[in-house]
Amino acid sequence: MPSKTSTARQTLYVHHSSDGTKALKTVTDLPKLLLVWNPGKGSPIHDHANAHCIMKVLAGELTETVYHPPHSEGDETSPLQLKHQKRYQTDQVTYISDDIGLHRVHNPSPNQVAVSLHSMYWSNSTNLL
Ligand SMILES: [Fe+2]
Repeated sequence: MPSKTSTARQTLYVHHSSDGTKALKTVTDLPKLLLVWNPGKGSPIHDHANAHCIMKVLAGELTETVYHPPHSEGDETSPLQLKHQKRYQTDQVTYISDDIGLHRVHNPSPNQVAVSLHSMYWSNSTNLL
């Protein structure tokens, strides 16, 4: 059970089960990544290597484009299909995992820098839930 006293290092983790239930847990010491997005710059489309990823916009705004998980039949992989696109403002939070799909994040502003904090959790690496 994580300590509830070290609040500066705690992170709220949300687990979505296949049966539709949610579990909330506060955990410590999850890997975190602070990213600075120059105007107009973005990531390539990527998966999350079986990690659950929570992103919070700390400054500016970011656009997330989500694609359905790719399907493979034999050696053929179907083209990615757009699932949805959403713009996040400062202080907004989003979540993605490979079950949701792949995504790309970019800064749509032509002149404002954006900053985001990413926290990752691999469900097979610990038994937090
Ligand atoms: Fe990502």
